[in-house]
Amino acid sequence: MTKLGVNIDHCATLRQARYRFSDAEKVVVEPDIMEAARLAESGGADSITAHLREDRRHMQDSDMFALRRGISGKLNMEMACNEDVISVALKVLPDYVCLVPENRQEVTTEGGLDLRANEAKAESAVARLSAAGIRCSMFIDPDISQVELARKIGANTVELHTGAYANAWRNPSERAVQLGRLKAAAERAAELGLTVNSGHGINYENVCQLLETFAFDELNIGHTIVSKALSVGMKAAVEEMKRLIAGVGK
Ligand code: PXP
Repeated sequence: MTKLGVNIDHCATLRQARYRFSDAEKVVVEPDIMEAARLAESGGADSITAHLREDRRHMQDSDMFALRRGISGKLNMEMACNEDVISVALKVLPDYVCLVPENRQEVTTEGGLDLRANEAKAESAVARLSAAGIRCSMFIDPDISQVELARKIGANTVELHTGAYANAWRNPSERAVQLGRLKAAAERAAELGLTVNSGHGINYENVCQLLETFAFDELNIGHTIVSKALSVGMKAAVEEMKRLIAGVGK
């Protein structure tokens, strides 16, 4: 069955909105990132995903170390190809790293990493992270040339960007085009021996059609789960997504 990685960045976004300049020893800092991660795991999350940004505006280095120590499943660390963040990853030693593009103005990651423009940097990062035993994934747009470059630079996983599919949800013909792109890119990646994940903009409504198109190894989902958690709690929100994933193909 397709695994579920739960991205808990938005919990850190909420915490930083209030407590960015606070001394955690003196005040009650909330929400608690570790509690969110543990509840996601209790709801069935196979991995926990967190993005350590260059400017540390959401997750902090200390969160990554705490997650590494405190969760029982896999830790997926998202990050840019940036020396400072690579050095933190080499100390945290997550199970996976997912290399993403970063733009300081964006609220969330808006497009895939362009491996053509970043080939040398990405290749060097993959070599160093892989040597430390970390599996390396590339967050790329669903383009066959990007998939082939991911293989060429030594990545073992790709995460295909599903944002265009999600944005086309209410437009059936455009949705079909985007599903076709995802299917072609995913099949090429599988043919090359890569593990094929996907993420971005996946929600309770669009997840099943995505999985009917290709049996991804893992989906990384954040926004919709954290949003639902506001009304039903994190554990129930993750359980509901797991039920949908389990139902595909039955
Ligand atoms: N995968 C990657 C690489 C991401 O950067 C993000 C967050 O933008 C996600 C998955 C989760 O996306 P969403 O929050 O839209 O579910």
